[in-house]
Amino acid sequence: MSKNHLFSSFSLGGITLGNRAVMAPMTRSRAEGNVPNALMAEYYRQRAGAGLVLTEGTSPSPNGLGYARIPGIFNEAQVAGWKKTTAAVHAAGGRIFVQLMHTGRVGHPSNLPPGAEIIAPSAIAAPGEMYTDQRGMQPHPVPRAMTAADLVKTREEFVQAAKNALAAGFDGVELHGANGYLLEQFINPHTNQRTDAYGGTIENRIRFVVEVARAVSEAIGGDRVGIRLSPHGANAGMTAYDETDATHLALVRALVETGIQYIHVVDHSAMGAPPVPEALKIVLRQVWPRAYIASGGFDRATGETALREGRADLIAFGRPFLANPDLVRRFEEELTLAVPEFATFYTPGPKGYTDYPVHG
Ligand SMILES: Cc1cc2nc3c(=O)[nH]c(=O)nc-3n(C[C@H](O)[C@H](O)[C@H](O)COP(=O)(O)O)c2cc1C
Repeated sequence: MSKNHLFSSFSLGGITLGNRAVMAPMTRSRAEGNVPNALMAEYYRQRAGAGLVLTEGTSPSPNGLGYARIPGIFNEAQVAGWKKTTAAVHAAGGRIFVQLMHTGRVGHPSNLPPGAEIIAPSAIAAPGEMYTDQRGMQPHPVPRAMTAADLVKTREEFVQAAKNALAAGFDGVELHGANGYLLEQFINPHTNQRTDAYGGTIENRIRFVVEVARAVSEAIGGDRVGIRLSPHGANAGMTAYDETDATHLALVRALVETGIQYIHVVDHSAMGAPPVPEALKIVLRQVWPRAYIASGGFDRATGETALREGRADLIAFGRPFLANPDLVRRFEEELTLAVPEFATFYTPGPKGYTDYPVHG
């Protein structure tokens, strides 16, 4: 009988994962005051059966808190708050990385703490509106274009956040290079129109991401670092450009040298984005010498097939984990899956958060 890959263990850097099912990062907006709390610890504890839990996007900087009630990891209260989550997940036998998400131009001043500001590679507003607790939907503001000093400071914020992550008990960090946030705003020429060494050519547009990855890797060890990428993604105002595949191939080649452990490639076609071409997925898998996480629209069967065909080492599941805290057990025993309720994705409190029951 052939081995069932999804339930086999995997060594990620030096860390042993009990199975190949990763909980995908999901913003849930339960962090009142941007500080992680006991409710969040309970939510993650319930999902510790994942081989690896990736937290919701968590800001390394006051400037990166673009959405209402998302957590940070740049001050002492946040580190103390996250310790509750890491302790709960570890006590339940799980492993957990924090996703470092700087929202860049995707945000609104009402969501930021005093003194923080919306910054981005170039002064180009994201299309559409952003929800704020104070004033409902508001148009995205025009961000301030980052200066050379901002680049250094922001890179250092990522480094400090990664150190804070280890102090908070995380097993590692995932850099959010996807979904239209700050790092992808550098990659995409429509959001990056800089005329310095960080804009223009492919080499220049990937430079900031590679510098951040290298600095974080040097600070906490590459084994503890991964990055999420979404070539062809359309979230948060990202629009298509001719060199998408060449840009991501160059980026991944450059990331090899930084020593980081994994790339996490998301295809959001299940959510309406253009599909990531199969040829790009294959070449990224070939070029990347270490762990590869695939995500976006997987179920038990398609995840198992992707592992069996060698297309990934790990499969991340988002919405299935949101609604099924015991997802891995349900997969193993082929139990029915609960359906996630969109209305409570981002609302405060336990409803639609910690009250999804385990099966039976
Ligand atoms: C409520 C919600 C919040 C999300 N927040 C994040 C996030 O903070 N960071 C991120 O990289 N992706 C985020 N995503 C995308 C998921 O990680 C995942 O890529 C997406 O749900 C597709 O995978 P799925 O089909 O398994 O759900 C979010 C998705 C959902 C449904």
